[in-house]
Amino acid sequence: RTFSRPNMAECVEYRGYRFPATTVKDLEFAGNELQVLDDDVFNVTYPKSGTTWMIEILSLIHTNGDPTWSKETPNWSRVPWIEIQDSEETIKKIQDRRRYLSSHLPRQLFCKSFTNSKAKVIYTARHPKDVAVSFYHFSKINKFFAYPESFDDFLKNFLSGNLPYGSWFDHVKGWLELVGTDNFLFNTYEDLQKDLRGTLKRICAFIGKELDEAALDSVMENVSFHIMKDNRMANFSLVPEKIMDQTQNRFMRKGIAGDWKNHFTVAQSEYFDKVFKEKMADIGVKLPWD
Ligand code: A3P
Repeated sequence: RTFSRPNMAECVEYRGYRFPATTVKDLEFAGNELQVLDDDVFNVTYPKSGTTWMIEILSLIHTNGDPTWSKETPNWSRVPWIEIQDSEETIKKIQDRRRYLSSHLPRQLFCKSFTNSKAKVIYTARHPKDVAVSFYHFSKINKFFAYPESFDDFLKNFLSGNLPYGSWFDHVKGWLELVGTDNFLFNTYEDLQKDLRGTLKRICAFIGKELDEAALDSVMENVSFHIMKDNRMANFSLVPEKIMDQTQNRFMRKGIAGDWKNHFTVAQSEYFDKVFKEKMADIGVKLPWD
């Protein structure tokens, strides 16, 4: 069951998925035409898993901790999504620097030219119960998404994959097939919460950047929740209200791990665990939330 809302923006149907803010042409570009460069760095996530946080992290690592770029340029121009409308034009404009690119695409729709390239993917996953909570709240403010009548209704759609970008389970499973390959780094939202400095160092090593301790201090400060929340170039307040209405709820909502405990009933949590076990039974990688 999906629920409509007044003045709802349209998602595009493409190869069994629904995608917001794009066209079939743009999706074809992301999947088939984009020519990956060997030093490209991809920020790949299922929505609500820490995409925006990683954009800020990559931007600040790129500038060795100088916050000017993050304060003057919207995040979607710094680390643009490859699959949203007009991404071809946006990406073409990146000529004089390394390209950092974001994507929510499931593995099978991601750019074909990535295979056999030396480009790098940082895949960030988050505890799926927290993803569900964050996605639920985000669906209330994002006009591309059906307005969820209740958390329980939303949870049913989350568990069955009946949402824009499809199933969390399939997304994570698809990308985790790359664990163990040199150009793939599996990261979690919880790693960023628990050990930001250590995780930043891991990311730097992975993408071949060396930052001194002072630069790392500056990255840490500028990617903190409270700084990002007030940064108009990071908090999506430049997006028109008719697309994202932040008058009631903010995109930068709580920024914590474990908020699911404030939303799930015991029965919902147990049912979720059962579905998780079934769907993630055959994955061969130990997940931190098992
Ligand atoms: P909540 O809704 O739980 O607060 P995405 O960028 O993939 O859409 O994910 C958005 C989620 O990441 C939101 O979670 C948001 O608050 C959180 N987030 C963004 N920046 C953060 C930061 N610097 N620290 C902690 N959480 C952050």
